[in-house]
Amino acid sequence: MTILVTGGAGFIGANFIHDWLADSNERIVNLDKLTYAGNLQSLASVAEDSRYRFVKGDIGDRALATRIFAEEKPRAVINFAAESHVDRSIHGPGEFVQTNVVGTFSLLEAARGYWLELPEAERSAFRFLHVSTDEVYGSLAAADPAFTETKAFEPNSPYSASKAASDHFVRAWHHTFGLPVLTTNCSNNYGPYQFPEKLIPLMIHNAVTGKPLPIYGDGKNVRDWLYVRDHCAAIRAVLAKGVVGETYNVGGKNEMTNLEVVHAICAILDELKPASHGYSQLITYVKDRPGHDRRYAIDPAKIERDIDWRPAETFASGIRKTVEWYLANEDWVCGVTSGEYSRWLDKNYKERVSA
Ligand code: NAD
Ligand code: DAU
Repeated sequence: MTILVTGGAGFIGANFIHDWLADSNERIVNLDKLTYAGNLQSLASVAEDSRYRFVKGDIGDRALATRIFAEEKPRAVINFAAESHVDRSIHGPGEFVQTNVVGTFSLLEAARGYWLELPEAERSAFRFLHVSTDEVYGSLAAADPAFTETKAFEPNSPYSASKAASDHFVRAWHHTFGLPVLTTNCSNNYGPYQFPEKLIPLMIHNAVTGKPLPIYGDGKNVRDWLYVRDHCAAIRAVLAKGVVGETYNVGGKNEMTNLEVVHAICAILDELKPASHGYSQLITYVKDRPGHDRRYAIDPAKIERDIDWRPAETFASGIRKTVEWYLANEDWVCGVTSGEYSRWLDKNYKERVSA
């Protein structure tokens, strides 16, 4: 049997592929466009594994996706491929609409064409699992209850609007065409192989290179942080046990302000890589992100009850593993922090004069 993942050269997809191959003998095919966020270095150790195949390409290339379905006959698709960074969606929303909305639509159509031709038993066993985000639900005030699966969508950024649109297309392909879909809406992930434009790897990288740690606004925005391998385990569990047409919220019950997260990183670095200054002295307040969502929080009651999934890592254990991984993998970090990365830093941070 075979599964097809898209976006497997990105942060979560690469972790998913490693865990999949460690856990199962089932073949895994990875369709990835290799944007700035896609990195085959993250998959170097499995590149020669006979159970793994990489195909460079766009989920929006219907002919290519149709060919892969015909060649590989996957029993499931897991759609990780997306433009995923909120700040980039503010600087250039077009790519987000193209990949997250049009690309997902195109992949749904290729999957539907393949699925319709399957023999009955395989048709009912087929799954299209769409990996989405808690950001589709919008922003919470401090006293609001956490997001449940029935919370209305209120996306606020170009990124979350494009993901919300893709979730709606996935839902509609089930309700109208009967495609057996599943959707997961997860909170903020952290862990190995995350591109250092996102909060946690950016702060680790800046700290060890002695650069300022840029905190947007007052640093009191709240996110619910989940270790990436717990998210991957949740996706495997939903693929195995999820009810077709349902959505599942995935979260760590671990709400923290950005300042708390950055102080936690600094404390671990103070211990593992002591510097003459304390790392938290590098914290610098900068201009806020436009439309910055104040708080996200996930109510994971449904996935706990129906799928029996719970995270294995606490934030304390997961963040320590993460800092240790970045300290031990300087080559990987060097490989992604040249070229395009420095142009991005200029674009995003130069104009953010210290607040
Ligand atoms: P990422 O940006 O690290 O990786 C995205 C991957 O998709 C890259 O390998 C990129 O090359 C590939 N890609 C982009 N456009 C493509 C296209 N048109 N065709 C094929 N491949 C393409 O993202 P991530 O953080 O690994 O997120 C993966 C998925 O999980 C996304 O759908 C994201 O919305 C969702 N998600 C992320 C988080 C998080 O905290 N990172 C949380 C919840 C949900
Ligand atoms: O909630 C799930 C989402 O989490 C995913 O869907 C997205 O793909 C993922 O990128 C992430 O979105 P965020 O916008 O929450 O992540 P980011 O790491 O960009 O920012 C986390 C918080 O840290 C946010 O409140 C903004 C703040 N921040 C971020 C950066 C990059 C800073 O204060 N300074 C920074 O330099």
